[in-house]
Amino acid sequence: MIAVDLYGLPADYDRLQELCTADGLFLLEDAAQSFGGEYKGRKACSFGDAAATSFFPAKPLGCYGDGGMVFTNRDDLAEICRSLLVHGKGKDKYDNVRIGLNARLDTLQAAIVLAKFEVFPDELEKRQHVARRYTEALAPHPHLLTSPRG
Ligand SMILES: Cc1ncc(COP(=O)(O)O)c(C=O)c1O
Repeated sequence: MIAVDLYGLPADYDRLQELCTADGLFLLEDAAQSFGGEYKGRKACSFGDAAATSFFPAKPLGCYGDGGMVFTNRDDLAEICRSLLVHGKGKDKYDNVRIGLNARLDTLQAAIVLAKFEVFPDELEKRQHVARRYTEALAPHPHLLTSPRG
Protein backbone atom coordinates (compact mmCIF):
# COMPACT_ATOMS: atom_id res chain seq x y z
CA MET A 1 0.00 0.00 0.00
CA ILE A 2 1.28 3.47 -0.85
CA ALA A 3 -0.07 6.19 1.43
CA VAL A 4 0.39 9.75 0.16
CA ASP A 5 0.70 12.51 2.77
CA LEU A 6 -0.72 15.65 1.18
CA TYR A 7 -0.26 19.34 2.10
CA GLY A 8 2.01 18.49 5.05
CA LEU A 9 -0.61 16.22 6.61
CA PRO A 10 0.46 12.60 7.18
CA ALA A 11 -2.17 9.93 6.51
CA ASP A 12 -3.92 8.01 9.33
CA TYR A 13 -1.02 5.59 9.90
CA ASP A 14 -2.52 3.81 12.93
CA ARG A 15 -5.41 2.65 10.74
CA LEU A 16 -3.31 1.99 7.62
CA GLN A 17 -0.69 -0.02 9.53
CA GLU A 18 -3.49 -2.07 11.11
CA LEU A 19 -4.92 -2.89 7.65
CA CYS A 20 -1.48 -3.71 6.21
CA THR A 21 -0.52 -5.94 9.13
CA ALA A 22 -3.84 -7.80 8.90
CA ASP A 23 -3.42 -8.41 5.15
CA GLY A 24 0.37 -8.89 5.07
CA LEU A 25 0.84 -5.79 2.91
CA PHE A 26 3.98 -3.68 2.55
CA LEU A 27 3.33 -0.06 3.59
CA LEU A 28 5.22 2.73 1.83
CA GLU A 29 4.81 6.33 3.01
CA ASP A 30 5.01 8.89 0.20
CA ALA A 31 6.23 11.87 2.24
CA ALA A 32 7.16 14.10 -0.73
CA GLN A 33 4.75 16.78 0.50
CA SER A 34 4.98 16.19 4.25
CA PHE A 35 8.62 16.55 5.31
CA GLY A 36 8.39 18.28 8.72
CA GLY A 37 4.77 17.18 9.25
CA GLU A 38 3.68 15.13 12.26
CA TYR A 39 1.11 12.47 13.09
CA LYS A 40 0.40 11.86 16.79
CA GLY A 41 3.76 13.39 17.76
CA ARG A 42 5.74 11.32 15.26
CA LYS A 43 7.53 12.85 12.28
CA ALA A 44 6.57 12.21 8.66
CA CYS A 45 9.05 9.88 6.89
CA SER A 46 8.98 7.44 9.84
CA PHE A 47 5.90 5.35 8.99
CA GLY A 48 5.41 1.99 7.30
CA ASP A 49 8.13 -0.36 6.09
CA ALA A 50 9.77 2.50 4.25
CA ALA A 51 9.14 6.14 3.40
CA ALA A 52 10.30 8.33 0.55
CA THR A 53 10.50 12.08 0.25
CA SER A 54 11.34 14.45 -2.59
CA PHE A 55 13.81 17.34 -2.50
CA PHE A 56 12.40 18.86 -5.71
CA PRO A 57 12.52 22.69 -5.31
CA ALA A 58 8.75 23.00 -4.79
CA LYS A 59 8.76 20.57 -1.84
CA PRO A 60 8.94 21.55 1.89
CA LEU A 61 12.69 20.82 1.98
CA GLY A 62 13.81 21.44 -1.58
CA CYS A 63 17.19 21.44 -3.27
CA TYR A 64 17.87 23.40 -6.47
CA GLY A 65 17.33 20.50 -8.86
CA ASP A 66 16.27 16.89 -8.39
CA GLY A 67 16.81 14.84 -5.28
CA GLY A 68 15.10 12.68 -2.72
CA MET A 69 15.59 10.31 0.17
CA VAL A 70 14.36 6.89 1.30
CA PHE A 71 13.90 6.14 5.00
CA THR A 72 13.61 2.71 6.61
CA ASN A 73 14.39 0.97 9.90
CA ARG A 74 14.69 -2.38 8.09
CA ASP A 75 18.29 -3.43 7.42
CA ASP A 76 17.26 -5.69 4.53
CA LEU A 77 15.48 -2.82 2.74
CA ALA A 78 18.33 -0.38 3.44
CA GLU A 79 20.76 -2.77 1.78
CA ILE A 80 18.54 -3.15 -1.29
CA CYS A 81 18.14 0.65 -1.56
CA ARG A 82 21.92 1.21 -1.37
CA SER A 83 22.34 -1.37 -4.11
CA LEU A 84 19.59 0.04 -6.35
CA LEU A 85 20.99 3.58 -6.34
CA VAL A 86 24.39 2.44 -7.63
CA HIS A 87 23.45 0.30 -10.65
CA GLY A 88 22.35 -2.67 -8.52
CA LYS A 89 25.78 -3.11 -6.89
CA GLY A 90 26.65 -6.10 -4.72
CA LYS A 91 29.93 -6.32 -2.75
CA ASP A 92 31.33 -3.43 -4.77
CA LYS A 93 30.23 -1.22 -7.65
CA TYR A 94 31.55 -3.63 -10.31
CA ASP A 95 29.60 -6.58 -8.87
CA ASN A 96 26.05 -6.06 -10.14
CA VAL A 97 23.53 -8.32 -8.45
CA ARG A 98 20.30 -6.73 -9.66
CA ILE A 99 19.07 -4.19 -12.19
CA GLY A 100 19.53 -0.79 -10.58
CA LEU A 101 19.69 2.89 -11.36
CA ASN A 102 22.20 5.70 -11.37
CA ALA A 103 20.33 7.48 -8.56
CA ARG A 104 23.00 8.91 -6.32
CA LEU A 105 22.18 12.33 -4.89
CA ASP A 106 24.38 14.90 -6.62
CA THR A 107 26.99 16.36 -4.21
CA LEU A 108 25.96 19.95 -4.91
CA GLN A 109 22.28 19.17 -4.23
CA ALA A 110 23.28 17.33 -1.03
CA ALA A 111 25.22 20.40 0.16
CA ILE A 112 22.19 22.61 -0.51
CA VAL A 113 19.80 20.26 1.32
CA LEU A 114 22.16 20.02 4.32
CA ALA A 115 22.41 23.82 4.59
CA LYS A 116 18.63 24.24 4.24
CA PHE A 117 18.01 21.42 6.74
CA GLU A 118 19.75 23.47 9.45
CA VAL A 119 17.26 26.34 9.10
CA PHE A 120 14.30 24.06 8.32
CA PRO A 121 12.57 24.32 11.76
CA ASP A 122 12.66 28.12 11.54
CA GLU A 123 11.39 28.05 7.96
CA LEU A 124 8.55 25.73 8.98
CA GLU A 125 7.52 28.12 11.75
CA LYS A 126 7.53 31.04 9.29
CA ARG A 127 5.35 29.06 6.87
CA GLN A 128 2.92 28.31 9.71
CA HIS A 129 2.85 32.01 10.58
CA VAL A 130 1.97 32.94 6.98
CA ALA A 131 -0.63 30.14 6.86
CA ARG A 132 -2.27 31.45 10.06
CA ARG A 133 -2.46 34.93 8.52
CA TYR A 134 -4.21 33.53 5.43
CA THR A 135 -6.59 31.55 7.65
CA GLU A 136 -7.45 34.67 9.68
CA ALA A 137 -7.86 36.87 6.58
CA LEU A 138 -10.10 34.31 4.86
CA ALA A 139 -12.17 33.51 7.96
CA PRO A 140 -15.05 35.87 6.91
CA HIS A 141 -15.51 33.71 3.77
CA PRO A 142 -16.78 30.35 5.08
CA HIS A 143 -16.85 28.81 1.58
CA LEU A 144 -13.04 29.18 1.37
CA LEU A 145 -11.28 26.44 3.37
CA THR A 146 -7.57 26.77 4.21
CA SER A 147 -7.28 23.27 5.67
CA PRO A 148 -8.76 20.04 4.33
CA ARG A 149 -9.46 18.95 7.94
CA GLY A 150 -10.82 22.19 9.27
C1 LIG B 1 3.05 13.33 -3.29
C2 LIG B 1 4.19 13.28 -4.29
N1 LIG B 1 4.83 12.11 -4.47
C3 LIG B 1 5.89 12.02 -5.34
C4 LIG B 1 6.33 13.12 -6.03
C5 LIG B 1 7.48 12.95 -6.99
O1 LIG B 1 8.65 13.56 -6.54
P1 LIG B 1 9.92 13.65 -7.54
O2 LIG B 1 9.54 14.61 -8.60
O3 LIG B 1 11.07 14.12 -6.70
O4 LIG B 1 10.12 12.26 -8.06
C6 LIG B 1 5.70 14.35 -5.87
C7 LIG B 1 6.15 15.53 -6.62
O5 LIG B 1 5.42 16.17 -7.33
C8 LIG B 1 4.60 14.43 -4.96
O6 LIG B 1 3.95 15.60 -4.74
